[in-house]
Amino acid sequence: MTDDLDRLMEVMEAAFEPQWGEAWTRRQVSESLVFPHTHSRLFGEDGQVALPEQPAAGFTLVRAAPGEEELLLIAVHPSHRGRGLGRRLLDQVIADARQRGAERVFLEMRSNNPAERLYRAAGFEPIGRRKDYYRLPSGKRLDAITFVCLIKGSST
Ligand SMILES: CC(C)(COP(=O)(O)OP(=O)(O)OC[C@H]1O[C@@H](n2cnc3c(N)ncnc32)[C@H](O)[C@@H]1OP(=O)(O)O)[C@@H](O)C(=O)NCCC(=O)NCCS
Repeated sequence: MTDDLDRLMEVMEAAFEPQWGEAWTRRQVSESLVFPHTHSRLFGEDGQVALPEQPAAGFTLVRAAPGEEELLLIAVHPSHRGRGLGRRLLDQVIADARQRGAERVFLEMRSNNPAERLYRAAGFEPIGRRKDYYRLPSGKRLDAITFVCLIKGSST
């Protein structure tokens, strides 16, 4: 049987380009999931939560704190991109955060990530920039941009 971590790592290894140094190792993911406030979601290629034996096409990793959450990672397997799956995953992140009573969701991305368009379409707005925050494997540096999505209709 393929467990959730195996399925998540299959997407991780295919989705992130090595030049950006963004992929997490299996150990980093498994250690983060030890904490009860870190949550992962696996979606199948049909855009629904993946059934236990179904291969994952995309995943998210979220850290929840009282009142606010942080999207740590989002990825869709390259063979399933451009069909709205990333948007489905983001909408689920926001729905989960709302259900847990959060008022906002944060994320941080390197300044040249084309995912910015997707984030803005889903309701995220840039609120800050950390100059030269990311150091790439090549040695080059890139700014980090922090985005926030304010959750309407939050119960708190
Ligand atoms: C970002 C990502 C999850 C989007 O998944 P997806 O299923 O293709 O997303 P959707 O189909 O819902 O939306 C596609 C939108 O994302 C944007 N986009 C994100 N990454 C893109 C890329 N590498 N190339 C082109 N467009 C990209 C496009 O603007 C597109 O919008 P459009 O349809 O209006 O042109 C996917 O590209 C990915 O896994 N990228 C690598 C991992 C990554 O960078 N994650 C974010 C940092 S943790």
